[in-house]
Order: sequence, then C-alpha cells, then structure tokens
Amino acid sequence: MEVEPILSELEAKRAAGWAAPDLKALAVRLLHESDRRFDWTGIYELAEDGVLRLGSFVGAPTEHTEIPVGRGVCGTAVAEARDVNVPDVRALENYLACSLETRSELVVLIRTRERIYAQIDIDSHTPGAFDPATEAAVRQVAEALAAIYEAEAEP
Ligand code: SME
Repeated sequence: MEVEPILSELEAKRAAGWAAPDLKALAVRLLHESDRRFDWTGIYELAEDGVLRLGSFVGAPTEHTEIPVGRGVCGTAVAEARDVNVPDVRALENYLACSLETRSELVVLIRTRERIYAQIDIDSHTPGAFDPATEAAVRQVAEALAAIYEAEAEP
C-alpha cells in the first residue's frame, strides 16, 4: 500500500475544514482501497466505560460492534497498550471471529503518549498480510488520526 496519498488527502480535507467524523470515515475508506489484501477495515473507538465501539468501517457487517477491553485481538491491544499483528488468527484462543474467511489481522492504536482514543482494525483473508512495511504505513495513518481525535477532544 502507498501511504503518502492517504496522508495528503486527509491533510487537504482537514485544511478545508471537514468535520472529524467525515475525516475518520475518509481515512477508513482510503486505507481499505489502498491494498487488495484488506478485506475489512474499520475503527473501534474507546469509550469512557472501557468498551470499544465500532465506528466507520468498510466490509461485511460484523456482530462485534462492542468489544470490552481485554477481549479478542481488539480488546487485548487496548489492555496491553500495544499494536497487535496476528499472522494466523487460527492460532489464537482470545479471538472474536468477524468472518470465517479471515486469516490475518492487524490492530494499530490511535493514540497520543497520554491517551488511547481508538484503533484501526484490518482483517485479511490472506495469511500474514501485514508485513512490516504495511504495518508501518498503517501506523502513519493512525498517527494522522490521533491528531484528529486530539483536536476533537480539546477544541
Ligand atoms: N477479530 C477481532 C474482532 C473485530 S472483527 O475482526 C471486525 C477481535 O478478535 O477482537
């Protein structure tokens, strides 16, 4: 995937005054379209009650619209305050299946040093889809989104 066009499009729309929810939805769509291996791309937002709630997404609807911290790959990322790259989801016990076809999954936190706002979650039908370059690119989008969340929290 190429990350520069995503970052510049987001920056252009931000400069043009787009609202935060629209910028988040745009980021999800551009990310999803940037790589054929991305079969489901979404944002889960961390609420005050310690539950991750599904925000914008592209792909098949999922029953996992709310995930408590600590559950599944998504909840584990928040509980351990780290990004999680799973090359083979079938090897995991603490996993919430969104699609039976999913083989690999990447969760990248949208965070500042002090606070976790949300996360980007990407599922792929391809095993080991998230090589280090792809993971680094997704992290750059997460950093751009963190600035958007931060501005939204402290207008
Ligand atoms: N697989 C995730 C659940 C979210 S779906 O992939 C969209 C998990 O184990 O937390």
